[in-house]
Amino acid sequence: MSQTAPYPVPSPKRVTILGATGSVGLNTVDLIARAPGRYMVEALTANSNVEELIRAALRVKPRLAVIGDAGKYQALRDGLLGTGIEVAAGQQAITDAATRPADWIMAAIVGAAGLAPTLAAVAQGTTVAIANKECLVCAGDHMMELVRRRGTTLLPVDSEHNAIFQVFDSKRPEGIEKITLTASGGPFRTATMAHMQAATPAQAIAHPNWQMGAKISVDCATYMNKGLEMIEAYHLFPVDKDQIEVVIHPQSVIHSMVSYVDGSVLAQMASPDMRTPIAYALGWPDRIHAPVPRLDLVQIAQLTFEAPDFSRFPALALAKQALALGGGAPTVLSAANEIAVAAFLGGKIGFLDIARIVEQTLEAGDNGALGQWSRLHSLEDILGADAAGRAYASELIEQR
Ligand SMILES: NC(=O)c1ccc[n+]([C@@H]2O[C@H](COP(=O)([O-])OP(=O)(O)OC[C@H]3O[C@@H](n4cnc5c(N)ncnc54)[C@H](OP(=O)(O)O)[C@@H]3O)[C@@H](O)[C@H]2O)c1
Repeated sequence: MSQTAPYPVPSPKRVTILGATGSVGLNTVDLIARAPGRYMVEALTANSNVEELIRAALRVKPRLAVIGDAGKYQALRDGLLGTGIEVAAGQQAITDAATRPADWIMAAIVGAAGLAPTLAAVAQGTTVAIANKECLVCAGDHMMELVRRRGTTLLPVDSEHNAIFQVFDSKRPEGIEKITLTASGGPFRTATMAHMQAATPAQAIAHPNWQMGAKISVDCATYMNKGLEMIEAYHLFPVDKDQIEVVIHPQSVIHSMVSYVDGSVLAQMASPDMRTPIAYALGWPDRIHAPVPRLDLVQIAQLTFEAPDFSRFPALALAKQALALGGGAPTVLSAANEIAVAAFLGGKIGFLDIARIVEQTLEAGDNGALGQWSRLHSLEDILGADAAGRAYASELIEQR
């Protein structure tokens, strides 16, 4: 990953936001709207939230607005009538939007649904700010190979990976001993198993430090998020699997750290507000103003750290296992997790069932029940493993 701009940064920067109506997407829209004249928005995309897409489009005036749900096409058209903004609908239209020339593309669709558009964005060979961690988890080797072939600049937006990017000496990686991902511990850090057994979606989504979309919030509560981030870090940075560790840091002030062979540890700190890593990626290689609360260390007074509890949060161990197995294991892990989280949010299974479903699906993969597993040679193989993981996890949920 290059850390100097490979080309002069144009002004205004032409930007596209995939997943513009989500938590990351709207924060990106907000930063762009606060800097008139600095950006020209090429395209905004959403899945079904047409009202939010219309509001965002009226704020930043893209050339194109795309809604994934074709049934919402007319509502989008009506909402943007007379603005001159082109409208389109359907999943293919989202991927097509990602192929429109842009200097900077935010990949902020949630889940593997973002894979095709994100790959299309990467294939442009431009700068892609990557928030969609599931893409890297399910297709990391494939995506990084495309990044290398097209000379794409990939900027991590996940706060932990953005922190590492800021302190990782990419010119001298041999001096790096390990990277440490910090985790807040989520809403159930100190909860008993009985409490988690009875946890409701509302309780699981109530993250103590961050405002995020529902899926990632549940992932934080199970610690699967940190597991997905370990796999994401493995693809983004030149480190071995055993050079990535996790530390619980409830205050979410240190966003991650890099340890060097001379004993130095470099950390990036900021208030827990996604507008900081988004602004870093949006302005890169320059720094731009972000309207976030400034860090007041005296007021915070204490930064604390603890080891993760793998027995209460087995999802983290499962993700580590998938990372160690490699091949299709991370793809199946992420697919099963998406299905299980959706089932939990839909009231079909309990909170602790999420990790159980993922574990059983991973086991099935390891036993050969999901077909292609040890090595994924092509995008078709990846999509096949993803579909097999989803089908198996769905069946387990139906059997309950
Ligand atoms: N939120 C955070 O603070 C944060 C931090 C670090 C990393 N991330 C990562 O960033 C990604 C986005 O997270 P988020 O919290 O912003 O998610 P979110 O609030 O749930 O928003 C997801 C976005 O993706 C769109 N989308 C959902 N399903 C889609 C589909 N099938 N096809 C096309 N678009 C679809 C949604 O459109 P609709 O609104 O129309 O449904 C929305 O624009 C995730 O991978 C997450 O892990 C998020």
